[in-house]
Amino acid sequence: MDKNDAILVTGGTGMVGTRLVEQLQSAGYTNLLVPTRKELDLCDEQSVNAWFDRNRPRYAFLIAAKVGGIAANIADPSGFLADNLKIIVNQITACHRSGVEKLLLLGSTCIYPRECPQPMKESHLLSGPLEPTNEGYALAKIAGLRLAQSYHQQHGMKCVLPMPCNIYGTNDHFDLSRCHVLSALVKRFSDAVANDTEEVVLWGSGIARREFIHVDDVVDGMLFLFEKAADGEIVNLGSGTDVSIAELASMIAEETGFQGKIGWDTSRPDGMLKKCTDVSRLHELGFQASVSLRDGIRQTVAQYRTLSGACEKSLDDVTIQKSTRRVA
Ligand SMILES: NC(=O)c1ccc[n+]([C@@H]2O[C@H](COP(=O)([O-])OP(=O)(O)OC[C@H]3O[C@@H](n4cnc5c(N)ncnc54)[C@H](OP(=O)(O)O)[C@@H]3O)[C@@H](O)[C@H]2O)c1
Repeated sequence: MDKNDAILVTGGTGMVGTRLVEQLQSAGYTNLLVPTRKELDLCDEQSVNAWFDRNRPRYAFLIAAKVGGIAANIADPSGFLADNLKIIVNQITACHRSGVEKLLLLGSTCIYPRECPQPMKESHLLSGPLEPTNEGYALAKIAGLRLAQSYHQQHGMKCVLPMPCNIYGTNDHFDLSRCHVLSALVKRFSDAVANDTEEVVLWGSGIARREFIHVDDVVDGMLFLFEKAADGEIVNLGSGTDVSIAELASMIAEETGFQGKIGWDTSRPDGMLKKCTDVSRLHELGFQASVSLRDGIRQTVAQYRTLSGACEKSLDDVTIQKSTRRVA
């Protein structure tokens, strides 16, 4: 990519998109196109096509998605499937129509089957039934990566397809109705310390194992893969190590200073019992995640505390402030 190429970033107000735009700006890219949802609703095909006709990006980082934790996915399965399908299909077909040279579509390790052998390899895609709690989201992501691969095979459109595990870190969400497990635990334990609560009860049994990657590593990995991955190749983007939710909760309790009891509500689902990616292809290409989980948790706790204090909002409803950039 040349420094003055027109580069589209969708989802630029979200956790990953914000960080990606910052990284591209600091690397000297001067023609970034970062439409907000208000400027461009990606579910609206006509608006998407008109926007691409007007702006003609050369490269596209397709980051936008309807994203949420297990509770949000269970509450709105049709929304997660329908909105994500529309967003993905509209973006990719518009890239093809308007002659985008190369795109990156950010996937997710939710695409792998519920009973996937561990660690999950890229070749395990479509080898078994999906985890039902986020099936709609996963189906839309799978459709998206197959669509991008089809445009590549049929029309030569270049595409890069990283599959990140659970992402956390700077600009994460702390609104319990939509946030992911790590930021939810940071909020729950930080609030418990602030309110002198003696017990924090968490969903599930704590035995499920999950893999986490800091958003800084995700963005560095995406930019790395944009240059190095083969076109149409799916590449896992993870840390390659997992922790149980109980271990994660203990680490976060320690970092927040919570000394009370941790309880488990086993009537709530655990989701998949283990989810960890095989990152050998990523390592072979030459990239490794570098932010340790302990350091990342410490930073996320500090950020939540700063934000919840600085915003003077209810601790029950804090979302990290987003800065919307449009650098054209
Ligand atoms: N977070 C994770 O753990 C995780 C793990 C694996 C993969 N991913 C993938 O990483 C990407 C970014 O996730 P994130 O955590 O950064 O999510 P996020 O913070 O929720 O950001 C999502 C972005 O998409 C935008 N968006 C959603 N619907 C839109 C629409 N109809 N039109 C235009 N923009 C729309 C949002 O705009 P608003 O600000 O207006 O809502 C926001 O900018 C997603 O593709 C997600 O599937 C995330």
